[in-house]
Amino acid sequence: MSVVVQAQNLRQIYKIRRGMFREPALLQAVGGVSFSIEAGKTLAVVGESGCGKSTLARMVSLIEKPSEGTLMLDGSDAVNTPAQDKRRLRQAVQLVFQNPYGSLNPRKKVGAMLEDPLAINTNLDKAQRVERARAMLAQVGLRPEYANRYPHMFSGGQRQRIAIARALMLKPKLLVADEPVSALDVSIQAQVLNLLSDLQDEFKLAYLFISHDLAVVRHIAHDVLVMYLGHVMEQGPKAEIFERPSHPYTQALLASTPGVGARHVQRIVLKGELPSPLAPPSGCVFSSRCPYAAPRCSAERPEPLPVQGRVVACHFAGQFLESGFPAVASADNAALSG
Ligand SMILES: Nc1ncnc2c1ncn2[C@@H]1O[C@H](COP(=O)(O)OP(=O)(O)O)[C@@H](O)[C@H]1O
Ligand SMILES: [Mg+2]
Repeated sequence: MSVVVQAQNLRQIYKIRRGMFREPALLQAVGGVSFSIEAGKTLAVVGESGCGKSTLARMVSLIEKPSEGTLMLDGSDAVNTPAQDKRRLRQAVQLVFQNPYGSLNPRKKVGAMLEDPLAINTNLDKAQRVERARAMLAQVGLRPEYANRYPHMFSGGQRQRIAIARALMLKPKLLVADEPVSALDVSIQAQVLNLLSDLQDEFKLAYLFISHDLAVVRHIAHDVLVMYLGHVMEQGPKAEIFERPSHPYTQALLASTPGVGARHVQRIVLKGELPSPLAPPSGCVFSSRCPYAAPRCSAERPEPLPVQGRVVACHFAGQFLESGFPAVASADNAALSG
């Protein structure tokens, strides 16, 4: 299979200004993420709000340069891109956002919006562009005559179909979708997810699919990458992550989403609050909330290492994967679950 995108150790550090007389603070939004996605496959990135998902999306869709790391897209270096590859790479990756209304120009008819990328990047004449736009509307399950309507005339789900159509006009290899169904009703979510699956099969698209919702991820992912405070906690094939989650954070996420995951997984409830990314815990960034944290965990950052068919960043992953993590004092757990 062909690898469409390969990221190695992607890192994004933002400088936060703190007034005239103080040094800017450094906020590491993404701290060294690696993955690859093949044509026709979906890597889902999950984690709580603020863990760096959108920052990762912006780096992979070439909106922001990473502070460190390498990104190979469609066979070319996408960080230090040779001039002759720039245009091709910009077309190879497209982004779909959570809020389709914000990303669609309210003053433009849908047809014109779909034709624009063709006018700029191809030699197709007007009649051909109109035809392509109409064909793409049909492809995303909308009527071709909707080309003459404005975005406000559509429902949320239809608008997201239009945003997807626009993203596909230049035949990208990779679609980065940042919470693409999170603003939609659950019944509509499933329809849009099914559409994305169909389009993936048809065009052999690679997806970087970002969601905080494990129920959605289970629907669409082939592989899953679990992030916490900018770092990868666990990544691997969907079945491994959902059936045998081996990082305590993955287990906690699964436990907090009704109806997903393995029944035998410990219900663990996290203690405390999400730390500030400006002052992340030392050692393992998850250590301040981990029910199994030992002294070593706040002293030493665990490297992501391969353990039984997935990669886990936990000092105890290998030890506990077989036997399960030990039971947590239930009084503690109960007190924190409310
Ligand atoms: N442009 C920016 N400048 C400074 N900090 C940012 C910027 N973008 C995001 N952040 C911070 O980086 C962290 C990760 O944000 P984000 O990638 O949006 O997370 P998520 O999409 O998972 O909610 C957050 O702490 C956020 O406040
Ligand atoms: Mg986000």
